[in-house]
Amino acid sequence: MKFFVDTANIDEIREANELGILAGVTTNPSLVAKEGVSFHERLKEITKVVSGSVSAEVIAEDAAGMIEEGKELAAIAPNITVKVPMTLEGLKAVKAFHDLGIKTNVTLIFNANQALLAARAGATYVSPFLGRLDDIGHDGMQLIATVAEIFDRHQIPTEIIAASIRHPLHVTDAALNGAHIATVPLQVLKQLVKHPLTDQGIERFLADWNKTK
Ligand code: E4P
Repeated sequence: MKFFVDTANIDEIREANELGILAGVTTNPSLVAKEGVSFHERLKEITKVVSGSVSAEVIAEDAAGMIEEGKELAAIAPNITVKVPMTLEGLKAVKAFHDLGIKTNVTLIFNANQALLAARAGATYVSPFLGRLDDIGHDGMQLIATVAEIFDRHQIPTEIIAASIRHPLHVTDAALNGAHIATVPLQVLKQLVKHPLTDQGIERFLADWNKTK
């Protein structure tokens, strides 16, 4: 499983990129709105830092509008992936982007049929939202497992991005259940590194080393 960082904050993206494990970035309208900057300018900045996939979401609700917006986004840099919501109009747009050779990430996936339809329309990625399913008492991780099994059984090349990740256990379980990618907030990415025994071990090694002086 690869790691994307889930943010539109350029400092966070730089920090994640320096870790040497970053394969891409996902943004969404809420994350961009928090930044208070021009979306296109921010995407230019991000694509200069990160060479992997950078997801940029369309706002239009009709296929024609999505296609127009998506073409503009894709023209910003070759590594832009157009993020399209899971709707009937979104499916039409995904097919059009596929035919144009533009990569897509179908977002707001909450059941397996949505993922299968998106894949069949030609989506490069699908994004099941784990955390938001957990929030309403459903099992977000089960959705990852089901989609992974369907894609595997039918040899579907679309990659699964485990999205709406809230804590380190989501990351481990997403990897175990067949997600190809986890898109993770920087704060959770940093939590993955931490273990009290690692910190204690470093302290002890240093203390012993200093005794030899
Ligand atoms: C990423 O592609 C999604 O937009 C993001 O993970 C959603 O996360 P949230 O449910 O925490 O807003």
